[in-house]
Amino acid sequence: MEYNHYNIKNDFPILLREVRPGTRLVYLDSTATAQKPRVVIDAMSQYYELNNANIHRGIHQLAEEATEMYELAREKIAQFIHAHNTKEVIFTRNTTESINLVVQTWGRKFLQAGDLVILTEMEHHSNLVPWQMLAAEKNIQLEFIPVRENGELDFNHFDQLLEKNPKFVAFTHMSNVLGTINPAKEMIQKAHAAGALVLVDGAQSVPHFSVDVQDLDADFYAFSAHKMCGPTGVGILYGKEKLLDSMPPFLGGGDMIKKVLLRSFKENDIPHKFEAGTPAIAEAIGFGKAVDYLTQIGMDNIAAHEKKITQYALQKLKSIENLKIFCPDVPDRGGVISFEMGLIHPHDVAQVLDHYGIAVRAGHHCAMPLHEKFGLPATSRASFYLYNDFEDVDLLVIGLQHVNELFA
Ligand code: ALA
Repeated sequence: MEYNHYNIKNDFPILLREVRPGTRLVYLDSTATAQKPRVVIDAMSQYYELNNANIHRGIHQLAEEATEMYELAREKIAQFIHAHNTKEVIFTRNTTESINLVVQTWGRKFLQAGDLVILTEMEHHSNLVPWQMLAAEKNIQLEFIPVRENGELDFNHFDQLLEKNPKFVAFTHMSNVLGTINPAKEMIQKAHAAGALVLVDGAQSVPHFSVDVQDLDADFYAFSAHKMCGPTGVGILYGKEKLLDSMPPFLGGGDMIKKVLLRSFKENDIPHKFEAGTPAIAEAIGFGKAVDYLTQIGMDNIAAHEKKITQYALQKLKSIENLKIFCPDVPDRGGVISFEMGLIHPHDVAQVLDHYGIAVRAGHHCAMPLHEKFGLPATSRASFYLYNDFEDVDLLVIGLQHVNELFA
């Protein structure tokens, strides 16, 4: 299908609104959360209007319909990431919960004092703090692959760390600050050769380019619906069947059990073993619809479009006096550009841009250690998705010129 971002913009009701009279919304904060197309919003409303019931419990018509819709969403997501089967696809609340699940079940069961876990300096807090918590409790060692000045990971250092016999490696597929796309397949091969298992944080990758978990040979892969045109409150943990089978449950409650006695229980099979309690049913159905929507447009088309927009933006931003991009020359990058404007505080930059209807994020973007490494307390960040066009970039550039004028 031919890519037409004007048509795509029309699919998103929010992108057609004015932020204030005469000022259209220029949404450049999709890395924080993406906007939702009408089809996703409708799928969720229709579920509530026609099918609402609890799943895996009732035998009435609505319960059967709801269960079928929920499980169909799982199938769509499994196909989207090329999982071997649906048992490997667990619904969670988000990427953060998916990572916590692995840390608290696999990590707690299989890691022992002194064991080494390798992370990177470019992780966002979701892939740092859960490990720090377990490390403090079980005396596990954490080591970090450094980020080089050009925004890439230092792979020589990674090789050296791998010689220390790590048990686990966890890294982001794409940085939410620098846009760096890490060579996940190669890193996983190396980690496996060193005897470690691997978790990939896919919060920023699955929404933006095609991901094949089997081809990558990832042991675990985590991502959220809300960054890929789906609703908030639902995410995925992909895990290899054998590993998931070997792990204890995460949360206890309904649905994750086969049998319960007063003093004991028998756990359910995967994926249900990890889905305690009533899940986010409407959201899972909306997630399935988001996957349909992205598939129809084509992930390769989306990736190519974002590359074009990002290159255009990198070029255009050079004209802004006083603006410094955080690693402008990352060799392989997605649609994320973080920048600083001399002494003008990123919050002021964001506030002035907001006046012109331009939404960017300002702060540490949930990646404080990465900012600290580069000596910056905060940056401004523009991020692009399938619905952004060249005009959005032009409006950003004009907005930034106004910032400079105001603070001159
Ligand atoms: N990690 C998300 C972001 O980058 C919240 O904005």
